[in-house]
Amino acid sequence: MILLIIKIYFSSHIPEPKLGVKLAEGKTKVVMEIADDPTRVLIRSKDQITAFNMVRCDQLEGKASLSTKTTSCVFKLLQEAGIKTAFEHRHNDTAFMAKRCTMVPIEWVCRRIATGSFLKRNPGVVEGYRFSPPKLETFFKDDANNDPQWSTEQIIAKGLSLAGRTIGRAEVDLMLETTAAIFDILEKMWATQDCCLVDMKVSKGVGVWGMGLLSQPTGEKGRVIVIMGSASDEHLGRRLHKAIGAYGVPCHLRVSSAHKGPDQTLSIKDQYESDGVPTVFVAIAGRSNGLGPVLSGNTASPVINCPPLSPEWGAQDVWSSLRMPTGIGCTTVLSPEAAALAAAQILALNEPLIWSRLRAQRLNMWAALQVADRALSEQV
Ligand SMILES: Nc1ncnc2c1ncn2[C@@H]1O[C@H](COP(=O)(O)OP(=O)(O)OP(=O)(O)O)[C@@H](O)[C@H]1O
Ligand SMILES: *[C@@H]1O[C@H](CO)[C@@H](O)[C@H](O)[C@H]1NC(C)=O
Repeated sequence: MILLIIKIYFSSHIPEPKLGVKLAEGKTKVVMEIADDPTRVLIRSKDQITAFNMVRCDQLEGKASLSTKTTSCVFKLLQEAGIKTAFEHRHNDTAFMAKRCTMVPIEWVCRRIATGSFLKRNPGVVEGYRFSPPKLETFFKDDANNDPQWSTEQIIAKGLSLAGRTIGRAEVDLMLETTAAIFDILEKMWATQDCCLVDMKVSKGVGVWGMGLLSQPTGEKGRVIVIMGSASDEHLGRRLHKAIGAYGVPCHLRVSSAHKGPDQTLSIKDQYESDGVPTVFVAIAGRSNGLGPVLSGNTASPVINCPPLSPEWGAQDVWSSLRMPTGIGCTTVLSPEAAALAAAQILALNEPLIWSRLRAQRLNMWAALQVADRALSEQV
C-alpha cells in the first residue's frame, strides 16, 4: 500500500490589519477594533504588571511579549484539545487576533490548591489545602467594588442579558463545566513541565457558545493497529479508524488471520513492536476469535478484541474473546467506537494531548445533553 501524505502550507503573509477605535482597556490588555472586520479584534498586551487589583502596579519590560507568547500557547493547546476559544492567531510579539465577543462580566476561577485571596475569604483553611475536585469560584467584574465573589444564585438572579441570550442556570452550569475542563487540561499540560497548576482565571464571552471537537494527528506519540481477520470486516475497521481520528491518533488497518496465516499475524505484530512507538492492537475477528488472543499471548502491548457478532451465533461466539488461557490479558468491547475510546484512554496515560481531547469530549457530551434536554423540555 502506498501512503500519500499531502501537506498544505498556507502562505504566512498576513496583511497588517487596519485598526479602528479602542474597544476596551483592562489592566493588562488593550482591545482594538479592526476597521473592516466587525467579527474580530486585535488584543495587545501591556508591559504593566499588577497585583491586588491595582494596589501594586509597575512596568516590566518584555512582559507584554512574554504574556502574548504564553497566552497564544495556552489558547492553541486548548483549541487542539477541542475547546472553543476566541483566539485566532498571534499577530506579532505583543498582540493576537481574536473573535470579537460580548464579554460576560464574571470571572471564572478554578483552584487546585488553597492560597492567596481564598485564605482571606475562608479563614481557618490552611495554605496548601488540596481541592478535589478543583474548587470553582465566581466573581462579578466590578473594579469599584474589588470584584466581589458571587454565588451561582446571585449570577442567575442578576439576569444578565448578552447578545440576545439571558444567563440562566443552564448557561452558568455550562460555563462552570467549561472552566473545570479547561483547568483539567491545563493542569495536565503543566504537569508535563513538572509544574503544578495552582489556580487560574478564565473570562468568557458570548460569540463562543458551544463546543466543537477538532482532530489533528498528534504525530507518532502513539498509534492504533487494527487487524481484521478478513477483508469482509473492513467496514468495522473503517468505523474504528474514523472514531480514533477524533482523538488525533494515527490508525493503520491490516488484514491477517491467526488461523490461516499465523506467521503473517506475528510478523505484522513484530513490525509495530520494533520502533518503540506506543501501540494498541485491536483485533476484529468474527466466529472463533483466535486473532486477539494469539496477538495478546505474543506481545506486551495492550490488545482489545472487538468481535463482530451475528444475531444467530453472537452469544456463543463472544466466549472466544472472553475466556482465555492463563497468561493472556486481552480485553473485549463490542463496538468499534468503544474500542477506539478504550485505545485512546490507554494511550492518554502517556500523551497529555490525547488525554485533553478525551476531557474535552466529555465536556462536549455533557453540553450536548444539556442542549437536548432544553430543546425537548421547551417543546413538550
Ligand atoms: N475576544 C474579546 N472580545 C472583546 N473583548 C475582549 C475579548 N477578550 C478580552 N476582552 C476584554 O478586554 C479587556 C482587557 O483585558 P484585561 O485582561 O486587561 O482586562 P482586566 O479586566 O483589566 O484584567 P483581568 O480581567 O485580567 O483582571 C477586558 O475588558 C476583557 O473583557
Ligand atoms: C503589533 O501590532 C500592533 C497592531 O498593528 C501594533 O500596535 C504593535 O505596536 C505591534 N507590536 C510590535 C511589537 O510590533
